[in-house]
Amino acid sequence: MWLLPLFCLLAPSLGSSPVRLLVEPPLRVWLRPPAEPRDARAVGTAWVTVPVDHFNPLDDRTYQMRYMYNEQFFNGTGAPIFIMVGGEWEISSGFLLTGNMFEMARENNGYLIYTEHRFYGRTQPFATHSTENLRYLNVDQALADLATFIGMLKDQPRFSTSPVVLVGGSYAGNMVLWFKQRYAHLVLGTVASSAPIKAEVDFTGYLTVVESAFRAEGGDACAAVLRDGIAATVAATETAEGRELLEQAFKICPPPSDPLDYSDKFTMGYFSGFITWTLSGQVQNARPAELRNLCTNLVNNVYGATPMESIGGLVTSGLSPGQCYEIRYEDYVNSYKNDAVSTGRAWYYQTCTEYAYFQIAPPTGSVFSPLSRWLNVEFYADLCKQAYDSRFDESFVRASVARSNRMFGGLRPDVNNTINIHGAIDPWHYLGVVDRELKESSPTYLVPRASHCFDLQPWQVTDTARMTQVQQAARRTVAAWLHEYYHK
Ligand SMILES: *[C@@H]1O[C@H](CO)[C@@H](O)[C@H](O)[C@H]1NC(C)=O
Ligand SMILES: *[C@@H]1O[C@H](CO)[C@@H](O)[C@H](O)[C@H]1NC(C)=O
Repeated sequence: MWLLPLFCLLAPSLGSSPVRLLVEPPLRVWLRPPAEPRDARAVGTAWVTVPVDHFNPLDDRTYQMRYMYNEQFFNGTGAPIFIMVGGEWEISSGFLLTGNMFEMARENNGYLIYTEHRFYGRTQPFATHSTENLRYLNVDQALADLATFIGMLKDQPRFSTSPVVLVGGSYAGNMVLWFKQRYAHLVLGTVASSAPIKAEVDFTGYLTVVESAFRAEGGDACAAVLRDGIAATVAATETAEGRELLEQAFKICPPPSDPLDYSDKFTMGYFSGFITWTLSGQVQNARPAELRNLCTNLVNNVYGATPMESIGGLVTSGLSPGQCYEIRYEDYVNSYKNDAVSTGRAWYYQTCTEYAYFQIAPPTGSVFSPLSRWLNVEFYADLCKQAYDSRFDESFVRASVARSNRMFGGLRPDVNNTINIHGAIDPWHYLGVVDRELKESSPTYLVPRASHCFDLQPWQVTDTARMTQVQQAARRTVAAWLHEYYHK
């Protein structure tokens, strides 16, 4: 008799091993290094000493900023310098060994450099990421780091007359464009790939592009599975029977794990994010044909028999058999709250204090709209308050975003010699300029069927002819700037 309760307790945990759900919004972009870099021995690593605070003359603290370089093509004094500007990630050698900037250096006898952004990778001004220390993490300081770095290069006789070309993707795409605008005398020109130059709080456009990407690649039938699956999931939260089916579809752990707290709006925001962040991650990283294959599977019920089971099967496809998810908002908050050095904590801080980029569900007219009751600005801003400072509330975030747009011009930057490239299925293109040249000297390219930053990569068999053309156009334009520089 006494064995029975014990057995009952043991049975579920034998059948399913709990995994804490720890998903992140695709706010943070890691500029993936190209696959199969060639001879990594060509790349060296070095460090420079730069100020912690460029804007306070009484603060004389410094820190070590890392960079990598490859001089295999450099053919002597005055030849050009190509700098890949690092964003919110750790740098690695790949872009100094292959990719479109590498080709530019090859074609123009250039020196190749990759700089690391303060507070990311091994470039750490402080031992922790306390909110106090993070005061020195902002783009103004990071651009000043770059200006200092370029100034130091120019102090070397071999580089004193070298023109500098900056290349950057995603947030680092913003950086190169803003750098050219703010420190025009230090660079000849820049290539800004997939740059979301407008900061925005209510970033409904992100999921709007995710939906249209699924529709464009997989047709209305694919969008219908998403629409019906998401609507059914939200409807299922309303009834006891529905919740049981939902928990099966999304592999939520049975007791003794904590139940999914349907009454907590932030838990449900996190659950909503689990769905949308997983789907949008697929779009942001998709090469042509990948979304089409995913849609074929969705439409043919490969992930589940009903639309809700299809969504559940797709977003839980990372679990091994027998594993289940524990979904707790507290775990999500704690993963950002810890003061230890962390890329996720550093970047979310920048979103709270500079860009927001909150990927909320559009309130109406979208397959994601039923989630808008939870996946809203209040949800994203709550993490700003809980992880950093109670003063980081929604109005603080709105003021921060307004400041960024005022400082840099939002969608109306005033910048010459900047090549502005976007992908038509990249959800971030919504915050960039895609429909006009920035200036006569700053052309815009929107590449059909391309997603985030793929023009920086080396050629791949899946590249469309249009992608190859745009990469070549960027190289021709850079070569023309250099020709003019050397022959004027
Ligand atoms: C570097 O290459 C350019 C173009 O091929 C050439 O004109 C120049 O003379 C070369 N400079 C040196 C120092 O070799
Ligand atoms: C851009 O170039 C044009 C033409 O040379 C010049 O008139 C204009 O002042 C430049 N704008 C900036 C912001 O440098």
